[in-house]
Amino acid sequence: MSGLFVVFEGGDGVGKSTQATLLADRLRSSGREVVRTFEPGDTAAGRQIRQILLDPATGDLDARAEALLYLADKAHHLHEVVRPALARGAVVVCDRYVDSMLAYQGAGRVLDRGELAGLARWATDGLRPDLTVLLDLEPARGVGAITAKDRLEAAGDDFHLRARQGFLELAEAEPERYLVLPARQPIETIAAAVRDRVDALLSDPRGRLDP
Ligand SMILES: Nc1ncnc2c1ncn2[C@@H]1O[C@H](COP(=O)(O)OP(=O)(O)OP(=O)(O)O)[C@@H](O)[C@H]1O
Ligand SMILES: [Mg+2]
Repeated sequence: MSGLFVVFEGGDGVGKSTQATLLADRLRSSGREVVRTFEPGDTAAGRQIRQILLDPATGDLDARAEALLYLADKAHHLHEVVRPALARGAVVVCDRYVDSMLAYQGAGRVLDRGELAGLARWATDGLRPDLTVLLDLEPARGVGAITAKDRLEAAGDDFHLRARQGFLELAEAEPERYLVLPARQPIETIAAAVRDRVDALLSDPRGRLDP
């Protein structure tokens, strides 16, 4: 039996955690095993990697080093958390995954998105979400509203605009894998759209895509 891998993506403060929690709670109450997780940092080693990535005290980090730290977190997180859960038949609900790395590291303009995607395929051994929910919002209304910014949140307006564009391009390239929703609809409206799409995947495993 194999489970279902659902990822929430989008900029800072768009509502990923809110929706991931609502989905996880609803699936649990219907009796399913749910593993609610996030990247980066949801393993012991990952917490240390996350600390390096997000702590303003890290200062300037070489773009390739930064990408490799994200990928190291992902490889370990898949090994420790995601793959075992999917193998048990659980639904894995994950806050951020490969798209965040492609959108943010690609948005830095230093790294080629195609090269990054190749590295990400290697690091994840090709594991892709069954569904990615992209919560789309102008950065001014998401990250712009955050007052105590971490290292990435403080990276500047252009960076966040390019990252938003990066997320949208990934979704547009493979619409069957994505649910793109405007992030400032009422929370319940978003939750209902997510629920419908996830329920469809759970009730018809043949509708799932190959990894
Ligand atoms: N649909 C919505 N409309 C308006 N406000 C919302 C909506 N969804 C979430 N919020 C609010 O936006 C804020 C950020 O939400 P949340 O923490 O879920 O976002 P996030 O994407 O997980 O953020 P981060 O990137 O910082 O982890 C919270 O105050 C939350 O209550
Ligand atoms: Mg969050």
